[in-house]
Amino acid sequence: MALKALEKRARELRAILDEANYRYHVLDDPQLSDPDYDALLRELLDLELAHPELQTPDSPAMRVGGTPSTGFPPYVHARPMLSLGNAFGEDELLAFDARVKKLGGIEGDVAYTCELKIDGLAVSLRYDAGKLTAGGTRGDGNAGEDVTANLRTIKTIPLSLRAHGVKTPRHVDVRGEAYMRKSDFERLNAEREARGEARFANPRNTAAGGIRQLDPALTAERKLSFYAYALGEIDADNPPRSQHELLAYLKALGFRVNEHAQPSGSIREVIDFVAEWETGRDALDYEIDGVVIKVDDLALQAKLGNAGKDPRWAIAYKFRAREARTKLLDITVSVGRTGVLNPNAVLEPVHIGGTTVSNATLHNQDYIRSNDIRIGDVVTVIRAGDVIPRVVGPVLELRVGDPPEYTLPDTCPVCGADVDHPEGEPMARCTNASCPAQLVERVRHFCSRGAMDIEGIGDQLAASLVDSGLVRDVSEIYQLDLEKLLTLPRMAEKSASNVLSAIEGSKHRGLARLLSGLGIRFVGSQNAAILAGDFGSIDALARASEDELVRSEGIGVEIARSVVLFFAQEPNRAMVARLKAAGVDVTAPLRPREPVGVLAGKTLVLTGTLPNLTRDEAAELIVAAGGKVTGSVSKKTDYVIAGEEAGSKLAKAEQLGIPILDESGLRALLGG
Ligand code: IVH
Repeated sequence: MALKALEKRARELRAILDEANYRYHVLDDPQLSDPDYDALLRELLDLELAHPELQTPDSPAMRVGGTPSTGFPPYVHARPMLSLGNAFGEDELLAFDARVKKLGGIEGDVAYTCELKIDGLAVSLRYDAGKLTAGGTRGDGNAGEDVTANLRTIKTIPLSLRAHGVKTPRHVDVRGEAYMRKSDFERLNAEREARGEARFANPRNTAAGGIRQLDPALTAERKLSFYAYALGEIDADNPPRSQHELLAYLKALGFRVNEHAQPSGSIREVIDFVAEWETGRDALDYEIDGVVIKVDDLALQAKLGNAGKDPRWAIAYKFRAREARTKLLDITVSVGRTGVLNPNAVLEPVHIGGTTVSNATLHNQDYIRSNDIRIGDVVTVIRAGDVIPRVVGPVLELRVGDPPEYTLPDTCPVCGADVDHPEGEPMARCTNASCPAQLVERVRHFCSRGAMDIEGIGDQLAASLVDSGLVRDVSEIYQLDLEKLLTLPRMAEKSASNVLSAIEGSKHRGLARLLSGLGIRFVGSQNAAILAGDFGSIDALARASEDELVRSEGIGVEIARSVVLFFAQEPNRAMVARLKAAGVDVTAPLRPREPVGVLAGKTLVLTGTLPNLTRDEAAELIVAAGGKVTGSVSKKTDYVIAGEEAGSKLAKAEQLGIPILDESGLRALLGG
């Protein structure tokens, strides 16, 4: 293509992408599908790469991050960026209103606009002839840092202004808050945890840190957002005359404006608005730390003027703090129902947002280490919504001496068994299947349908068996008798004998079900069936080394390690011995190493609810017939077995043309 034609195509692509971006991020009304957007963006990126002369500063290609810089030049504000005075409580709002009336010479009620105070970082964006030309942080109000390339990565910041019913201003400074949505923050932290990296402390710091990255691609990764709420210098034909007009104007220029902003006819209405959001804030997908109240009439704003750096026409009502400093007295460790060791902070009691906090979570060892939290430190604690209070980190200036780093114990604080803490994994776990901390969950799982299928022992009975001390590990289920069961609250003779016959019936489920019932880490029904078929008895399995275990199809080192560790624990071996003594079948028919059977070499996917089989039962039948069960549909899938309410896997199978069977189809496949 001639350069002219390429230039035209680039312009066209930019226009389509820009519009799609606006519809998606500002209007929440997507127009292009993600793959279509990606394909067009790819085309533009390739074009600009091959012909750098076609690049423009307002190209959507800039959103993925331009060239890294070595530092930020100063960004001088044409009009100072003011900060805000604070108000706490109703009285201070009434005092603010009285001052506005007095200085403004107003008799009746003053009209205000109330806006949520977004907890992020204030930035100013400069547009010349409708194009974003520069952007900077607030800094000291007169000059901040020029972070233009980073701001271009924020999808809710228009690279060129729209003009919906207004004329494009010749020049305008648009101000607002760069912030991070809670959902984006959680996703980013989950990704970081999966990569073994430390979690970020809170959305605000993550947004502020994101804006100050030297490499804009790193800013782009944080997926920041922007709400516009103020103007700096402006050169336009019909500039807005009130704050509520100003917000509508910003919207018409293509900005995202917070939809909860509300004009209020009087300070009474302001007080209602504030009360509503002090309790309503947790439902939002972004953090707010208060409400900003602005005199609506811009002429009145000008008349009131500023007092130093704070305008006299606006005030920030601050919600009660959810963060406080206190001393970390100790770290205790509790063991969760799945055996995970949870470090907890013991704090000097401190008031946060209306309640007294003396305990907080520390997540795990990596969190403690990467945030450098040590016993004796003064720490920052936050309490957000209903979430358990969390220690954010130490106040390093206040650290006394050099307290030792904290390490989790290597034996379980509840039962003393070995703790398994795989390299690179955040969580440490107790390896003892009879650890009292895990027992209720273990018993419930052991008796569940996919495992030993003991009808009658559900959540409640499992808890009461453990609480009463009748069951101290799953083998003791087989020591129960009528007399013992009748000591339990609300246990009648009829149901007790039903439970006993269910227990008796479970003795013959075979090794695969037993193994999956034992809850060995990574050994679910499928791996249990494989191991049972390959080893034939629990004794052979208990003797197997990691090397022997990994020879089984689908058994990797991690699984093998977990199996070896399980059988190395004395309490686990004793429990197995008791199961055997009670007459529980601990054997399985050996499966020839090369899978044979009607489904040998076939891969199946299960989805939805089948009428008569649980998913585990279906998987067991398939594996017994030599087949393999995987979790996701791909071109390699041979059959998809779909039950009721099958979802995306079914759709995928249809799309790929993979045969879909129901339960009776599966039975036919298995030979009836
Ligand atoms: S107006 C003079 N409106 O709060 C006007 N600020 O404590 C100054 N903020 O630096 C800003 N949401 O970072 C305004 N709707 C909002 C806001 C808001 C958050 C931040 C902003 C400012 C700080 C002042």
